[in-house]
Amino acid sequence: MINFRKAVMVGCGFVGSASVFALMQSGLFSEIAMIDADMDKAEGEAMDISHGIPFAKQMRVYAGNYDDVRDAGIVIVTAGANQKPDETRLDLVHKNVGIFKSIIPEIASRDFKGILLIVANPVDILTAVAQKLSGLPENRVIGSGTVLDTGRLKTRLSAHLGVDSRSIHAFIIGEHGDSEIAVFSSANVSGIPLNDFCEMRGHYSHDEAEKNIAEEVKNAAYEIIQRKRATYFGVAMAVKRICECIVRDEKSILPVSAMMHGELGIDGVVLSMPCIVGSEGIETQVPIKLDEDELKRLRDSAGILKGIIEELDI
Ligand code: LAC
Repeated sequence: MINFRKAVMVGCGFVGSASVFALMQSGLFSEIAMIDADMDKAEGEAMDISHGIPFAKQMRVYAGNYDDVRDAGIVIVTAGANQKPDETRLDLVHKNVGIFKSIIPEIASRDFKGILLIVANPVDILTAVAQKLSGLPENRVIGSGTVLDTGRLKTRLSAHLGVDSRSIHAFIIGEHGDSEIAVFSSANVSGIPLNDFCEMRGHYSHDEAEKNIAEEVKNAAYEIIQRKRATYFGVAMAVKRICECIVRDEKSILPVSAMMHGELGIDGVVLSMPCIVGSEGIETQVPIKLDEDELKRLRDSAGILKGIIEELDI
């Protein structure tokens, strides 16, 4: 029997513990089990986060084990090496695929019937790896994709335009990484095409602004890692947003990592694309209008990821 108010976090490093901290404050779950190869780390983080519960909403956060997966509604995997300064997310693939080969079978062997949310990087590739290793239906194995990047884009556009980031509708798609694409051609602010809204706010050099903003978003993680060695608060809030969507069956549209089946002429590779997300994970992908350049870059991004996956021994 699935307990949709129970989550399991696999990996209690920076991202895992920050995500549990965000989830504890969200009130979404009545219990969260934390698993880590380092049991002391899991226990320490669970204890520390638990002491904040009296200031939030009643729930339980505890150090658990893989048996906790059996009845969990969502299992989140953040375990894996994270980027060092000047390291790309794709540089992590071999090490983290090795870690996934030990983690994912532990989850699948417990007859897990919930949603598997992959956050570890390179998240699009590791989502494909988790789909293969777990044998779970694709719609129930999703990645955090470019949800965070899209949040970064909206934050940056909000500052540029002096408007609430929640009124900005724009996506980063493709790889959560260096080949990601900022889709400006269909971006809008409460239905007003982005460029029209920019001109309303006195900005006219659209191409230059788009290039600079897209670069800033793409390089955000590198800038943060250079300064504080890791990123974790932004991605923790992205994890919280995705879990909210699943637990509440919101059917919101989020750019999560999803297997492509011919959409936009792309097949057999996981990319971060706008999807309707609810209690069953991905309900369906949502078509996104792309201009010629955006479509070419998306296909290039898919080619990069596909090439890497084909070399993996899964
Ligand atoms: C980042 C990590 C989560 O973009 O990839 O901050």
